[in-house]
Amino acid sequence: MVFANIENKIPATLIPGDGIGPEIMDAVVRILDVLGAPFAWDVQQGGLAGIKSAGDPLPGALIDSIRRTQLALKGPLTTPVGGGFRSVNVRLREEFHLYANLRPVRTMIPGQRYDDIDLVLIRENLEGLYVAFEHYIEVGDDPHAVAISSGVNTRAGAKRIIRYAFEYALSHGRKKVTVVHKANVLKALTGIFLEVGREMAKEYEGRVVMDDRIVDACAMQLVMNPWQFDVIVTTNLFGDILSDQMSGLVGGLGMAPGANIGEKAAIFEAVHGSAPDIAGKGIANPLALLLATCLMLKHVDRADLAARLQTAVDQTLKVDGVRTGDIGGKASTNDFAAAIIKRLANG
Ligand code: NAI
Ligand code: MG
Repeated sequence: MVFANIENKIPATLIPGDGIGPEIMDAVVRILDVLGAPFAWDVQQGGLAGIKSAGDPLPGALIDSIRRTQLALKGPLTTPVGGGFRSVNVRLREEFHLYANLRPVRTMIPGQRYDDIDLVLIRENLEGLYVAFEHYIEVGDDPHAVAISSGVNTRAGAKRIIRYAFEYALSHGRKKVTVVHKANVLKALTGIFLEVGREMAKEYEGRVVMDDRIVDACAMQLVMNPWQFDVIVTTNLFGDILSDQMSGLVGGLGMAPGANIGEKAAIFEAVHGSAPDIAGKGIANPLALLLATCLMLKHVDRADLAARLQTAVDQTLKVDGVRTGDIGGKASTNDFAAAIIKRLANG
């Protein structure tokens, strides 16, 4: 077993989160300990746990911690629907200018509906309709008679994320970037995104191919023939929707990690939420969060550890056949963690 030296440890903020968050985080941290991951955790509460402990779903102590570490592993945070608090996730992304949301999906269990899926979705994380410039107009006695929302996409924002996608493709040996938009209807809001994509493609000519899709057609094609895609880059709302859809190609939300990357910090998480329907039952799949730590390890230049972890995951799923219920198995969260730990200890 390899243990990192104390002095070599990398400070990182750890947010257990809400719902299934603490259960899957506990499993993941135990696995990382056995792996010898080099993180020195600073545990901070957010979401409902933050409201309980500090009266704010995004307590100052949490923000201060990430400002210091510039690195976080985050469990899902519950955002109460409707009035009251703004989405904590949106606030975190804004606070640390986490402009790129990286969501890779890869087949890890063969023989399902789709084999050999290996796609990356890169979602613009700060602009579009998620700026949530929203209001209601009262008509008669109905205060919510009309609902209005304005989206904002900037040329600078589009350039930043589309450049990120092309550079990601280059550095990861990927051949094609598909720009997804709805420029036929939202001609300004998403037209600017396509316009920037076409301009930037010229810079990468001969190195990375660029093409584009209208979002609804893209959704259909992802079901009919997902293999035609490689790297997809898209606006905030479309990226949110398509990334959940893409996780469905490889077994669902329990398999889908995400990284929120900015100039000042990087926050790693599962794509899924706090799953209140199964919280506390000990059956949640910790894999998406665990795969997020693979992205985190690569981010801190420990691709070696990420590869070891990935191998242990592959063997646990394929050779040992240990899987949680959401992906057709019977294992509990703890059974699954124990199986991975066994693989790491023997590997
Ligand atoms: P969800 O992703 O929590 O759950 C959707 C479905 O997938 C549920 O049936 C759930 O049981 C299942 N599921 C999700 N993760 C699973 C796992 N690891 N293992 C097994 N099954 C899993 O989405 P939902 O229900 O729409 O949202 C619940 C809460 O989570 C909301 O408050 C929402 O705002 C929040 N949320 C937070 C996110 C974050 O912190 N990044 C992302 C998405 C939602
Ligand atoms: Mg989502």
